[in-house]
Amino acid sequence: MFSTILAIFTLFISVLILIWTCVQIYINYSSDKIGFVPSSSPKLSQAMYKIVHEYIKKQEKYTFVELGSGISNNTITAAKRFRFKRFIAVELDPFLVVFSKFFAFLNKVNIEFYVADLYKFQIPKDSIIYCYLGNTIVTKLYKQGSFKGQLVISTTFKINDVKETQSHYIGGIYRKIFVYDFRGEK
Ligand SMILES: C[S@@+](CC[C@H](N)C(=O)[O-])C[C@H]1O[C@@H](n2cnc3c(N)ncnc32)[C@H](O)[C@@H]1O
Repeated sequence: MFSTILAIFTLFISVLILIWTCVQIYINYSSDKIGFVPSSSPKLSQAMYKIVHEYIKKQEKYTFVELGSGISNNTITAAKRFRFKRFIAVELDPFLVVFSKFFAFLNKVNIEFYVADLYKFQIPKDSIIYCYLGNTIVTKLYKQGSFKGQLVISTTFKINDVKETQSHYIGGIYRKIFVYDFRGEK
């Protein structure tokens, strides 16, 4: 008897969660908000453009580095838009890097791809680090000194216990981009 009640209750909760998820998906897609592909959202790239224009005066001096680049659409977008010295995409998954290289070829952009662990990657001096990782990852990168002297643009995830220089509301489930300007810390 008890197990039947528990099963019905679990089913009821599951149905409620499913309905809530569907409503959220509907709201995100039907309103002027970002859906589930943040990197391909024009709102996100526009925010990136705005940040770069605001913080970077001499593009030729900087290297754009995307840590955990996935299929590298952010790096490709940046490479089409900006004239940075170098564009670097770092990704652990070799298959994603193969796709990335193909997309870069189609978009005729020059990007250096590295199949590498972002914790071990030597980030060049004067970089703009773009990432969409997680709180734990960005906090660990910060603590190990990877962000020292760099401008960091982190989608969605904040570095724990570090006040961001600026944040941009994007909308939808991804909500914000956080900017950390560590260039004063040499
Ligand atoms: C949430 S996805 C973001 C992809 C892309 N930057 C974007 O905005 O769409 C995070 C990416 O980080 C990669 N990644 C996770 N841990 C990594 C690590 N230790 N080294 C390199 N890449 C890593 C994953 O394989 C994944 O492609």
